Amino acid sequence: MKSAWNFLDFMPEQATAWASQVDFINNFITYVAAFCTVAITGAMLFFAWKYRRKSPDHIGEYITHNATLETVWTVVPTLVCVFVAYYGFAVYHDMRTPPVDPVEINVEGYQWGWNYIHANGKKAAKELYVPVGKPVRLILSSRDVNHSFFLPAMRVKEDVLKGTYHYLWFTPTKTGDFPIFCAEYCGREHSGMLGTLKVVSPEQYQDYINDRRKEELSPVQIGEQGYGQRCIACHSVDGSPRIGPSFKGLYGKTEQFEDGGSASVDDNYIRESILDPQKHVVKGYSAVKMTSFAGQLSDEELNGLIAYIKSLK
Ligand code: CUA
Repeated sequence: MKSAWNFLDFMPEQATAWASQVDFINNFITYVAAFCTVAITGAMLFFAWKYRRKSPDHIGEYITHNATLETVWTVVPTLVCVFVAYYGFAVYHDMRTPPVDPVEINVEGYQWGWNYIHANGKKAAKELYVPVGKPVRLILSSRDVNHSFFLPAMRVKEDVLKGTYHYLWFTPTKTGDFPIFCAEYCGREHSGMLGTLKVVSPEQYQDYINDRRKEELSPVQIGEQGYGQRCIACHSVDGSPRIGPSFKGLYGKTEQFEDGGSASVDDNYIRESILDPQKHVVKGYSAVKMTSFAGQLSDEELNGLIAYIKSLK
């Protein structure tokens, strides 16, 4: 909700729950900064005028210190800064905590546009459809240079770099059309990387993603095919170990590595394991070296394999 004292409001429409919190802290910092600028500059000018030299032999007073004043101007700004830090952290923490059971959509940036791939394989460009009232998690990747996916109405923005996955999530609270921007200068038509976020009812969203070409496979189906062609000899999907670890229940699990390290299995770890398998070898699997699939898989196949592994709960 926009509050009544928001008389200087340059922020876009609020379409997610944390938007009002983001705007509150943003406005708070702006107003505090404006107040301090006026108060400090004003006091400085006033005192410079009040205590100006009034005659050539005028000598200024000798002033040591004022303990009360110094305590106040130390403690009050400290409290204000602690409040800003705490509030900012709390909202940021919400934004960075992955939602439970989100609608996941792959977003691929390229020079100069965005492609959207929904869970059932529905592909789109320009328009990103999402259901209202449900957490939406975007898995972002870039085909070429650095981009940045920016949804002002949702108050979320995430840099998108080639070679690694980035995430953002939000829960839209109202239906409507909202702008999508690229917020990282990425070449000649950077400013043309515009799109529309279409927040629709969950029923409309289902209708939308179901309206697709029959031959379009979902990422999970693409991954299943890829698995059959490339991975099946060494990796099972039923939990039994082969030459390599099984894919069943792999996603989200914490793996111990030969070099003593460990990591939880996420999109980036799977991607790395496919493209650079020797980087983090899982403990107990060092006997046979897996060869790298770098250059052999399209991003679509890579995303598919990750989606497939994710689906093997
Ligand atoms: Cu993509 Cu700017």
